[in-house]
Amino acid sequence: MTHRILFVCLGNICRSPTAEAVTRAKAAARGMDLVLDSAGTGNWHVGKPPYALMQEAARARGYDLSPLRARQVLPTDLSDFDRVIVMDADNAADLASFGSTDRVTLFTEYAPSSGATYVPDPYFTRDFEGALALIEDCAEGLLDALEQQAQSNRSDN
Ligand code: 4NP
Repeated sequence: MTHRILFVCLGNICRSPTAEAVTRAKAAARGMDLVLDSAGTGNWHVGKPPYALMQEAARARGYDLSPLRARQVLPTDLSDFDRVIVMDADNAADLASFGSTDRVTLFTEYAPSSGATYVPDPYFTRDFEGALALIEDCAEGLLDALEQQAQSNRSDN
């Protein structure tokens, strides 16, 4: 069954759409079939494309964010997706008002060697390249974890 992953941040115009596009590109490069989406806990930017400076930083590293449009998290997301991956602890706390957070994990948990415990919000820090580099690390770690999981599922069967 195709694994379904939702990336969540606050506005869905900087970090989570970048996580979606970066993970999609890296999964395709590995030949992995995943369903990926992203959403925000807030509703300010619903229907808008990713933030222009975020798009620019992503494009410089080969990722096209332009087709993406912001949406707000739905309560059903928390059961429809196999994993819900948040950028920081506030996102996780905010998700609790949408439903069970059993499937929620922090993106930085997949990149322990980065030393980061959250993905800083470039909308406020203005460090778009730094956020992108961390997101790339986390995406590789996530895909490694999914490949390992698939391998151990295969050897269990
Ligand atoms: P994001 O960044 O959560 O990474 O999409 C934000 C963008 C905009 C706002 C907050 C966070 N805002 O409050 O408008």
